[in-house]
Amino acid sequence: MTVKKIETALIAAGRDKKFTQGSVNAVIQRASSLVFDSVQAKKHATEQRANGELFYGRRGTLTHFSLQQAMVELEGGAGCALYPCGAAAVTNSILSFVSAGDHVLVTGSVYEPTTDFCRHILGKLNVATTWFDPMIGAGIADLIQENTRVVFLESPGSITMEVQDIPAIVRAVRSVNPQIVIMLDNTWAAGILLPALALGVDISIQAGTKYIIGHSDAMLGTAVANARCWDQLREQSYLMGQMADADTAYMAARGLRTLGVRLKQHEANGLRVARWLAERPEVATVNHPALPGSRGHEFFLRDFKGASGLFSFILTKRLSQRQLEHYLDHFEYFSMAYSWGGFESLILANQPEEIAAIRPAGGVDFTGTLVRVHIGLENVDDLIADLEAGFVRIGEAV
Ligand SMILES: Cc1ncc(COP(=O)(O)O)c(C=O)c1O
Repeated sequence: MTVKKIETALIAAGRDKKFTQGSVNAVIQRASSLVFDSVQAKKHATEQRANGELFYGRRGTLTHFSLQQAMVELEGGAGCALYPCGAAAVTNSILSFVSAGDHVLVTGSVYEPTTDFCRHILGKLNVATTWFDPMIGAGIADLIQENTRVVFLESPGSITMEVQDIPAIVRAVRSVNPQIVIMLDNTWAAGILLPALALGVDISIQAGTKYIIGHSDAMLGTAVANARCWDQLREQSYLMGQMADADTAYMAARGLRTLGVRLKQHEANGLRVARWLAERPEVATVNHPALPGSRGHEFFLRDFKGASGLFSFILTKRLSQRQLEHYLDHFEYFSMAYSWGGFESLILANQPEEIAAIRPAGGVDFTGTLVRVHIGLENVDDLIADLEAGFVRIGEAV
């Protein structure tokens, strides 16, 4: 049989007959209790509870097993743990591999709640965090301590979009201590645009809330682990009570079927907008991994299979509060919201000091207002016209 291309894999993943039972999609099996026909059946289910046998709702039902199998088919690895949201996937993956007295290395451009988790929860458990420059590459070797257990990456970084040299980081970490668990928040690439496990990452984490769900109407976290880490991730996450509900698991599997075409359109629309912005006099920098000049662009070209729809740009000027409000309050197609990855376009803006305040290392290297956009599936000419009208509004307000 020929190797499946990603478009085909997205359609086929997890749709085994045992899960679909005669329909196209996996059944929605909602359950807390799963009923055993006999003492022998209960014994068998208990012994095989980690291996896809129906045992207890928190271990998953046919709907969950189908999604978990799909994620493994798409991202590789030995298994996929499910969580009620992306933040739970991040925090429980880290917690599954640390003990009091340990040390973790985390990229300084990580999603803000991940920073806060390290500060407030890991700190309380006596697990120390060192933050590193996302462009550190092989230099990460110098930061590894005797007690370092986890290296946590996010690429591109949140808001400022730095693409990391993952192969160089993996090589450097392994050369010092092969036991360290390397995790990646792979949400931007929806798991499929960056083959994390093939690049040597141990655990690929996603806020399935974003592109997998794809419609801004449910929350989910996924963590796909290689064989070395799967048992520990699965069992410790289970002990911490982590699971998603069957309806959300179903919606996630349904989202996978259109993920490929949605991402292609997000990419095409996003690139059109990014290139248009790069030509605008109001814009100093466009932080889009696929554009030359964006930090780590060379690693994007080497490691990624494409771009999604989230990026940022920095204005030449710092907007006054009046300008900011006049700019943001009147878009026709761009809504203001924190999440992203759905079909719709979104916009948020931050002053440099606001970004500096959420970055563990402090300062930032820009002075203009930063705007983050998620480019959705609308007609891109409408989006560009909307953004153009926004620039006119900035000029009108002082
Ligand atoms: C990169 C990244 N990781 C994780 C999360 C957390 O996901 P959730 O909102 O599902 O908890 C987000 C949410 O914005 C995110 O942007």
